[in-house]
Amino acid sequence: TLGGYPDFMAKEINEQPEAIERLLHDRLGEHGIEMDELNMTAEELASVDRIYLVACGTSYHVCLIARAMIEDWAKIPVFCEYASELNYKEPLVTDHTLCVIVTQSGETADTLTAARRMKGLGCKVFAVTNVLGSTAARESDGTLYVQAGPEICVCSTKAYTAQMVACSLLALRLALANGQMDQTEVERHFRNLQAMPALIREVISRRWQDQEASRLFRSAHSALFLGRGVNSTTAYEGALKLKEVSYLHAEAYPAGEMKHGPIALLEPGFPVVAIVPADHVHDKTVSNIQEVIARGATCIAVATDGDEKIAKLCDNVLWIPPVPEEYLVPIVAIVHLQMLARYVAIARGCDVDKPRNLAKSVTVE
Ligand code: F6R
Repeated sequence: TLGGYPDFMAKEINEQPEAIERLLHDRLGEHGIEMDELNMTAEELASVDRIYLVACGTSYHVCLIARAMIEDWAKIPVFCEYASELNYKEPLVTDHTLCVIVTQSGETADTLTAARRMKGLGCKVFAVTNVLGSTAARESDGTLYVQAGPEICVCSTKAYTAQMVACSLLALRLALANGQMDQTEVERHFRNLQAMPALIREVISRRWQDQEASRLFRSAHSALFLGRGVNSTTAYEGALKLKEVSYLHAEAYPAGEMKHGPIALLEPGFPVVAIVPADHVHDKTVSNIQEVIARGATCIAVATDGDEKIAKLCDNVLWIPPVPEEYLVPIVAIVHLQMLARYVAIARGCDVDKPRNLAKSVTVE
């Protein structure tokens, strides 16, 4: 039931903090991250030398963020693949390749096919899923349930953030197993994850900012989303949410790519959403914003509280509180873009819970 919310999308956006709290509960043990569900011995974990992250849609975006963390923390090379692409090529599997599938429903046909193929090639297959007893869970060697609770809205919100947290735990588990991180470091990162629910609550309390910004899309035909590093993924996911629920065309690019083509789209009033948190690539993205503004386009920034440069430059800012770790910014920043997409869709008279042409789980290849 809706429990007082106007639609499931609103309800599920609001449930994100509790979902993450549930997932983190009892996960930090004396020996690091508790993840017995992996069903792998410490030796097996330590010997993983390559990881395939496989998924579709929003869950694929989770893989992109997970790759950044696993490569940096555990120093294991990661390949991210759309399941529907991996299924028609030869994966480069070693004797110690781990395949991780990420699937909210656990029933996405392409993802299941990919998992079966990887298993056939001798890989251990680990599933990150939200559905207990789903096909993905039953057929995998190990399963991590993200426990976000049933996701009814066709467009994924709480599963996205919960899956990102689940993958952060996996990255920490791998880093501890292969000696790239010690227990103290793991604990430090875990504490940062524990800060996520409060930060998301804070963003949700600022939803009026998204409601205001949604007016800038009233006469738009298209929108461009830009971000750098892990937040290029926030741009992809923000654009996907917008087109899915509002039927407004949206494209996303790593910010530095704008000048290689998409800049031709810019004209007065064209909405550009730029994710520009306080991080090591902040100033580079600010230059892109200056290019956007110089062409008369409308910039809607997602920026960190206290960023005076952005406050001066952009009329429309979706503010996020400071996040203790750069890799975790996507978990906080996306909440604004989920709410923005919802407000734009409602203003355009769309049914946010049941967008046309889409099904909650795609059980055909
Ligand atoms: C977008 C969305 C889809 C799914 C995709 C994979 O909001 O919901 O892109 O993410 O169909 O679904 P799962 O995660 O169930 O495999």
